[in-house]
Amino acid sequence: MENRNLGRGSVSVPVVGLGTWRRLEAAAAAGRHRELIDTALAVGIRLVDTSPMYGSAERLLAEALDGTREQVVIADKVWTPSPEEGVAQLARAVDWYGGRVDLMQIHNLVAWAAHLPMLEAARAQGLVGLIGATHYSTAAFPELAEVMSTGRIDTIQVPYNPMQREVERTILPLADDLGLGVLLMRPLGEGRLVRRQPGAAELAPLRPFGVTTWVQALIKWGLSDPRVHVSLAATAHPERLQENAAAGSPPWFGPEERALVLRLAEAH
Ligand SMILES: NC(=O)c1ccc[n+]([C@@H]2O[C@H](COP(=O)([O-])OP(=O)(O)OC[C@H]3O[C@@H](n4cnc5c(N)ncnc54)[C@H](OP(=O)(O)O)[C@@H]3O)[C@@H](O)[C@H]2O)c1
Repeated sequence: MENRNLGRGSVSVPVVGLGTWRRLEAAAAAGRHRELIDTALAVGIRLVDTSPMYGSAERLLAEALDGTREQVVIADKVWTPSPEEGVAQLARAVDWYGGRVDLMQIHNLVAWAAHLPMLEAARAQGLVGLIGATHYSTAAFPELAEVMSTGRIDTIQVPYNPMQREVERTILPLADDLGLGVLLMRPLGEGRLVRRQPGAAELAPLRPFGVTTWVQALIKWGLSDPRVHVSLAATAHPERLQENAAAGSPPWFGPEERALVLRLAEAH
């Protein structure tokens, strides 16, 4: 799998990461959360995104990383309007992940002006590697651009898939100008884009790019934008990770292949 430098060139990560929203708890309910994380590592997925918003996902991830923490880049979040609870969330995460969170993001920009100095102090102490900000909604993109322009964050996390392309207008160009790391949420549209899938004949032009499934076409579509660094596809099923990871190697799509994926997404 290809590696890209996240956050002004300081941390090199494989381009396919693992999201945990609802899916890590689903894996745990089936008794498979350790297997999910072990399999992710085995197929080269080494960045895992989580949040206090995701129920018990942070704790389950810590449990599943017994002995393998050092192989993983942890992307966690602070998600609370309360500055005190923000401090407590960071402390819990630092405790869960062996004394350090590699990337700490401000989830949905909640109370970002309060959390940012706290995270900067934590970074100076070595408790946090990079600082990021996330939002899922187009309505929040002007505020996200404002936070990006402070020069105080290293990464952003935004939705980007063939049916959600608003970031192309201002967010991706600004991230590129500022040299920020970009993590994609919802590469499969929260699963909506994979319910009805194009057939093998429709996908045939993508085969020279190592793509044999529609899921791979969607993941590779996002990663073929050079302003993007990591695609966070989420699954509860260990057996799907190899398929997802395989979309993280070159050759990357050119304009024609990206346009084909857009047409197929529109048609299905
Ligand atoms: N505001 C924020 O910061 C924010 C907001 C949204 C998301 N995120 C992050 O981004 C991550 C990804 O977004 P997402 O979870 O919303 O959606 P997603 O990754 O676009 O889609 C996940 C869905 O795709 C399915 N899937 C995954 N791999 C598959 C495969 N190979 N074949 C068939 N189905 C497959 C999963 O089902 P199965 O589990 O059944 O495989 C799941 O239903 C989240 O988990 C979270 O970490 C952050």
